Amino acid sequence: MSTNIDLDDLLAAARDAAQHAYVPYSSFRVGAAVLTADGTIITGCNVENASYGLSNCAERTALFSAVAAGHRDLVAIAVTCLDGDPSQPATLVPCGACRQVMVELLPAHAPVIIDQVGATTLDELLPNAFRLS
Ligand code: THU
Repeated sequence: MSTNIDLDDLLAAARDAAQHAYVPYSSFRVGAAVLTADGTIITGCNVENASYGLSNCAERTALFSAVAAGHRDLVAIAVTCLDGDPSQPATLVPCGACRQVMVELLPAHAPVIIDQVGATTLDELLPNAFRLS
């Protein structure tokens, strides 16, 4: 990566973003943070809707926000959730829809930092992904 941003800082940004989650239906607060090649961090949270299927995951909020802000050179993403089963550490691995969107916008070797789990890559999360090119 061409940046000195610590991946722990990226995870911290994801945790901050999760505080903004709009989750009246699931009460499951998720945050994500995308790192760009110039060191910018763009964050996102999940935003739910009374028409449940219209809810947007934190990862896609962050990725779409990064693109909307003019960033195309994305290098890493971190995700976290603040809620879940209190009897075990809260973990969140990105859903299939978000993995497909990551494949579109991040390189295959891009680190995906999953809170409480560790670092993986898109190659591992979605092997043989659908692409048009
Ligand atoms: N959610 C995310 O934000 N990211 C994922 O990868 C999986 C699920 C959100 C969607 C919904 O608001 C809540 O978690 C419960 O599914």
